[in-house]
Amino acid sequence: MAKTKSKFVCRECGYESVKWLGRCPSCGTFNSMEEELLVPAVPVRGTAIPGGYPPALPLTISSEEEMRDEEDRLTTGMSELDRVFGGGLVRGSVTLLGGDPGIGKSTILLQACQSIARQGRVLYVSGEESRRQIRLRASRLKVSSPDVLLLTNTELATVEHAIEKERPSVVIIDSIQTMFSSQLNSLPGTVSQIKECANALIMLAKTQEICFLFIGHMNKEGSIAGPKMLEHMVDTVLYFEGDKNLTYRIIRAAKNRFGSTNEIGIFEMGEEGLEEVENPSAALLSGRPHEVPGTCTVCVLEGTRPILAEVQALLSESSFTSPRRMATGIEQNRAAMLLAVMEKHLSLRMSAIDAYCNVVGGLRLSEPSSDLAVVLAAASSYLNRPVQENLVAFGEVGLAGELRSVRGVSTRIAEAVRLGYTSFVIPHTDRPKTPIEGATIYAVKNIAEALEIALAPQEQKRERR
Ligand SMILES: Nc1ncnc2c1ncn2[C@@H]1O[C@H](COP(=O)(O)OP(=O)(O)OP(=O)(O)O)[C@@H](O)[C@H]1O
Ligand SMILES: [Mg+2]
Ligand SMILES: [Zn+2]
Repeated sequence: MAKTKSKFVCRECGYESVKWLGRCPSCGTFNSMEEELLVPAVPVRGTAIPGGYPPALPLTISSEEEMRDEEDRLTTGMSELDRVFGGGLVRGSVTLLGGDPGIGKSTILLQACQSIARQGRVLYVSGEESRRQIRLRASRLKVSSPDVLLLTNTELATVEHAIEKERPSVVIIDSIQTMFSSQLNSLPGTVSQIKECANALIMLAKTQEICFLFIGHMNKEGSIAGPKMLEHMVDTVLYFEGDKNLTYRIIRAAKNRFGSTNEIGIFEMGEEGLEEVENPSAALLSGRPHEVPGTCTVCVLEGTRPILAEVQALLSESSFTSPRRMATGIEQNRAAMLLAVMEKHLSLRMSAIDAYCNVVGGLRLSEPSSDLAVVLAAASSYLNRPVQENLVAFGEVGLAGELRSVRGVSTRIAEAVRLGYTSFVIPHTDRPKTPIEGATIYAVKNIAEALEIALAPQEQKRERR
């Protein structure tokens, strides 16, 4: 057999080398070089634009026509999803949706097709499933619009051809890892293939004002498989999060050129696909245990929206030489730091203690305002004393054990009051100027003061306003 030439390409940065290297000399990542077969250069056919690229003419930045287009977003029919996009899909934008297997990526985009089709044609390109499988799902999700076209071929030229012929407004690629160009002699899913296909499709999006939605697989490290620069190439990167075994699913923007990255969309997986959760706080708190040590309610602000969640902690004597520290829904390092602050400023001995922290419902808390609830839940578990009923705590905790200011205090308190909470432990700098009806507010300086109020059942009866 003739010896085929190959090259090695870095998965992270695209660096190329003729021989395998244990460490990429360009970005320094270990074990990131992947072998790809090399073929004699074939003149690469142009994009689907007849006669090549349109002439590039500089235009004024505030062209009226373009301003109008900007406003004209496509709605997905799901306000939770539109919210994450920054108010709907922008024409000519490219979005990458990543998430674990089975989380519901294909489901949500297929579901969105029905509404999008009322505003323009949709082409759904799938290299993952058969036509039959997709049709079955479509009928389960009640997607029946004649303007939703299905293509189960992922060869780049074929897809480009279909786009040229059908002129869709939105194209869904499920998934970008299955796309391949027969111009390249490397397998689908390799760095070169993904890069080439993504590039060609992004070019189409920008020149023809087509909105592209790429589904992306996740790798073991929890980022989207393929070249790291894929995330840089697209306009918007969304992550589908949540525990597959729980019904709640959360879509979060990691990058958005057309909106805020603070907004999240919350869904529930059901028989007829993903349903929007209209009252996420109530949903996330359902089944919350009462009068049990190791849990505390927090109110975080996701974008402009306050969401209540339950933080749980379990601290127990360790039987390991180095104690275990586990955190889900909270950043591991943050949790470790908070335990160290507790050791120092609450005089709790943490060194021989295993600590597990969890946020119920699969929500990931990225905002430092959840610090105080983590500290209180952990202290409550350690001391085996429950946190007061109907108490919400929030505030960033500093290394000196001090509580630091957070934004949107009144919004958070109002949401919690709506759900029946009455007591609030917050940073002393954040006391609302006007009293909030139904809320007893304890504005405290540090975690020791917070703990005293949160736990003491006797103090509960003493009104402190
Ligand atoms: N009949 C059904 N009723 C309720 N839920 C279902 C039903 N069929 C599938 N599901 C849900 O849909 C999920 C699969 O969704 P989907 O295929 O959209 O995931 P995906 O993210 O595209 O996965 P993959 O990465 O494997 O393509 C399942 O995990 C299950 O929770
Ligand atoms: Mg899928
Ligand atoms: Zn590299």
